[in-house]
Amino acid sequence: MAESIGKDERRVIVLGTGGTIAGRASTAGDNIGYKAGEVGVAELLGSIDAPDGVLLLAEQVAQIDSKDMSLAIWQTLALRCAHWLAEPGVAGIVITHGTDTLEETAFFLQSVLGPSKPVVLTCAMRPSTALAPDGPQNVRDAVVVASTPGVQGVVVVCAGTVHSAFDVQKVHTYRLDAFDSGDAGPVAYVEEGALRVLRNWPAPTGSARLTFERMAGAESWPRVEILVSHAEARGAIVDALVRERRLGRADAIQGLVLAATGNGTLHHALEAAALRAQAEGVAVVRATRCSQGRILPREREVLRDAGALTPVKARIALMLELLSGERSA
Ligand code: SIN
Repeated sequence: MAESIGKDERRVIVLGTGGTIAGRASTAGDNIGYKAGEVGVAELLGSIDAPDGVLLLAEQVAQIDSKDMSLAIWQTLALRCAHWLAEPGVAGIVITHGTDTLEETAFFLQSVLGPSKPVVLTCAMRPSTALAPDGPQNVRDAVVVASTPGVQGVVVVCAGTVHSAFDVQKVHTYRLDAFDSGDAGPVAYVEEGALRVLRNWPAPTGSARLTFERMAGAESWPRVEILVSHAEARGAIVDALVRERRLGRADAIQGLVLAATGNGTLHHALEAAALRAQAEGVAVVRATRCSQGRILPREREVLRDAGALTPVKARIALMLELLSGERSA
């Protein structure tokens, strides 16, 4: 880490968490048979030419395949972000991350930090050892976003496109441009080192500070499961989860997200079980399993809906609500 910086220099902190961007394959032509989370973040920055006046500082927070993301790593990541964001010389933060749960980490950080500086998650679809890796350009673009005055909130940069943490979703298994913001569209593009801004940056939510404090001090997190409604769905899993709760198990379910069909509808057997669970104190939320659109509320719905949040983001929102005591389970 650099000891001192010039007075006109802006610092961008690059936090490494692993992912394909830090992946290594045994043969250079192999874009899928690699191990994620192998190359350190300082080494990833070796090939990055920072914009004028920007000093990059690297810190390794984790080194994982993001399919294995844990609440403990999220907690550490949020604390490191809060630490660096409070430093006056820090313009913003870049986080290198796997693509698979990137939208969850982005939404979690936006919910607990609601930052007035940029926190920019970036990634790659090809490992660092590929013949033409996409990681270096994504990191360079992310640094541009993180060091641009006036940018705020948690965003994702991939393939030259900047997405808001609220809207971003991984939509492709292989394409380099693997993310989409659905109906909302991207926030900006990065073109040859310049930002073309299309709409407002993610705004802080009023409850972020309280949520951060509860999250930072939590020794355990409320258990919230996701179940999908589908043809022939049944209520047996919901009933089994509720039985565990009746037995008083410490890690029993507190919340349930139902990945509902279309405009928030549920198979009648699953709905009946969800109503039984809600009557026993489980916090139940419906989120649509459609990749675009939002649930438009209808009269007389007994199970509340998550609006435009995807099931994985609705789960995070519900966990944080339960943790903040805004909702009793
Ligand atoms: C991961 O999510 O860590 C592996 C997959 C990827 O980064 O594309």
